[in-house]
Amino acid sequence: MSFQNQRVVIVGGTSGIGLAAAKSFVAQGAAVVVASRSQAKVDEAKQALGAQVQGHVLDFRSEDDTKAFFAKVGTFDHLVVTAGGAVMGPFDTLPTADVRAAFDSKFWGQYLTVKAALPYIQKTGSITLTSGVYGSRPPQGASTLAAINSAVEGLVRGLAVDLAPIRVNVVSPGLVDTPIYSGMDAASRQAMFQHVADTLPVKHIAQAEEIAEAYVYLAKNTFTTGTVIQIEGGALLS
Ligand SMILES: NC(=O)c1ccc[n+]([C@@H]2O[C@H](COP(=O)([O-])OP(=O)(O)OC[C@H]3O[C@@H](n4cnc5c(N)ncnc54)[C@H](OP(=O)(O)O)[C@@H]3O)[C@@H](O)[C@H]2O)c1
Repeated sequence: MSFQNQRVVIVGGTSGIGLAAAKSFVAQGAAVVVASRSQAKVDEAKQALGAQVQGHVLDFRSEDDTKAFFAKVGTFDHLVVTAGGAVMGPFDTLPTADVRAAFDSKFWGQYLTVKAALPYIQKTGSITLTSGVYGSRPPQGASTLAAINSAVEGLVRGLAVDLAPIRVNVVSPGLVDTPIYSGMDAASRQAMFQHVADTLPVKHIAQAEEIAEAYVYLAKNTFTTGTVIQIEGGALLS
């Protein structure tokens, strides 16, 4: 029970990687707060995680909403952010408005969340953000995600210095089977998962639980800051 008497806030903790991280923190004794935009997802997550978990509706793109959220939550120990929208497409035809919207979500949302959390996070605590393997190895059509993920990783290095002794790190996942792909039809999704799995040294894509472990490690290990944890099945080598 490594997180007994500690509070962990997970923005994006109602689905996918964030929900898996929430389960791991709960299993290790933490008092967990999850937040995301949809009341339905918040309710489902609370049901999955247990009655002791708190849930709030939050759109992390709004500075006012993030400030009001943390004022409600109060003092806590560890912040995890897994929320974030993305966009893919050819650089020359992808509408600039879509690219800005992706930055507003995955970069500015994480930035605003950290800023609003600061008055409430313990100095002995930690902050863990989320980037992605396309920051280091973009396929065609991923230049926006390459830029966003690299910006998040740069921000983390700066914040590890600026916010010390609070530790600040980032998890960079490869392809993970989560509801982020629920908009695709089942056959195309399965074909995409299989194609990526075939290219990876580990020959499979990740389950959310395999990525969740990294957030728990980063909250726990008091000698780790300014680090990017890459969990990508060997994608950087293939
Ligand atoms: N899955 C992958 O293959 C993969 C690979 C590399 C990187 N990543 C990154 O990992 C992170 C988590 O992805 P995932 O696969 O776990 O996705 P997911 O299952 O879709 O979960 C995303 C979570 O973020 C919340 N969210 C989205 N926009 C939000 C907003 N504006 N304000 C507050 N909450 C918001 C969603 O809930 P609501 O809809 O209720 O807001 C949901 O709880 C993302 O940053 C993603 O880019 C994922």
